[in-house]
Amino acid sequence: MAVRSRVLGTGMCVPDLIMTNDDLTRIVDTSDEWIVSRTGMKERHRVRPDQAASDLAIPASRQALEEAGLGAGDLDAIIVATITPDTIFPSTSCILQDKLGARHITAFDVSAGCTGAIYALALADMMIRAGDARHVLIVGVEVLTKITNWTDRSTCVLFGDAAGAMVVGPCDDGRHGMLSYYLASDGAAGNTLFMPAGGSRLPASHETVDQRLHCLYMKGNELFRPAVKMMSDSCILLAERAGLTLADIDMYVFHQANLRIIEAVGKRLEIPREKVFVNIHKYANTSTATTILAVHEARREGLIGSGSIVSQVAFGAGLTWGGVLWRW
Ligand code: COA
Repeated sequence: MAVRSRVLGTGMCVPDLIMTNDDLTRIVDTSDEWIVSRTGMKERHRVRPDQAASDLAIPASRQALEEAGLGAGDLDAIIVATITPDTIFPSTSCILQDKLGARHITAFDVSAGCTGAIYALALADMMIRAGDARHVLIVGVEVLTKITNWTDRSTCVLFGDAAGAMVVGPCDDGRHGMLSYYLASDGAAGNTLFMPAGGSRLPASHETVDQRLHCLYMKGNELFRPAVKMMSDSCILLAERAGLTLADIDMYVFHQANLRIIEAVGKRLEIPREKVFVNIHKYANTSTATTILAVHEARREGLIGSGSIVSQVAFGAGLTWGGVLWRW
């Protein structure tokens, strides 16, 4: 029987500090009514100034390892998906390898915007199916509040900080595990969501800092339609590749960027509302962490259990999009 990857444990971590929509009205010209009606967001979590991505990734990873019944020494690879690493280099995955006490294993970061965790899960599946790894830790972690322009109301209300972790391992019962994956990109639209400075194109300087070019920049209204189309297309492709129909899927977990986007995908694909998991009201957009957080919470709420077919789909900077389809 062919080997597939299967999720052995999930974990999540959000910082203690909560920012409500009302808190944001004291920073920029906005309102609870605008944020809720345009995005579905009510609150988000924010790190302290001394906290970085790995500080959230470690507790989330430990929780996932514990559920998997594994120790850090059992890991064969660590893949961290993030656009807000502790440092540009070394990678946050190497920091995690050290802090968790893992062996001298494969460890690297993936930069695929909000689709990063999907890319990481597909890569882990490839490694496991190739026989190169048994147990892989995947972390989607973001501290977006550290790259937020707090003078720009069109973006600063949208993001939060969080880490989600999954430990995957081999499954050869021919039934459970990853049924299909799909990854895609379109760099031509990259300038709709990016961080202008801090890379080799525009290294840090007084000017770049003064102009807040090290912050996230987004043309949100240009991304709305592509987000709906690409996530819808991803759902269809994932089901086709697994020989299933959309109606066979028990739970849809979409990237939590905007409740209106999630609802538009559901409407377009005629998915019953109860099959679409939503937690954007609690965490806002935590980029690559959103779908892992959602899967973790859906499991805790008993909405995903053994045998559930789960479509986990994202869209983000790059542009990138895609998904993974599981039989839990
Ligand atoms: N509070 C109050 N008003 C705000 C505001 C805020 N926080 N932010 C923007 N506005 C105003 C704008 O200035 C604009 O005013 P105007 O009509 O007087 O010019 C109006 O609200 C509408 O702005 P717009 O940007 O067109 O809103 P929108 O309905 O498109 O919602 C987003 C904005 C960002 C929530 C939405 O476009 C979105 O979710 N886009 C996709 C994001 C995404 O998927 N990103 C990729 C993955 S991370």
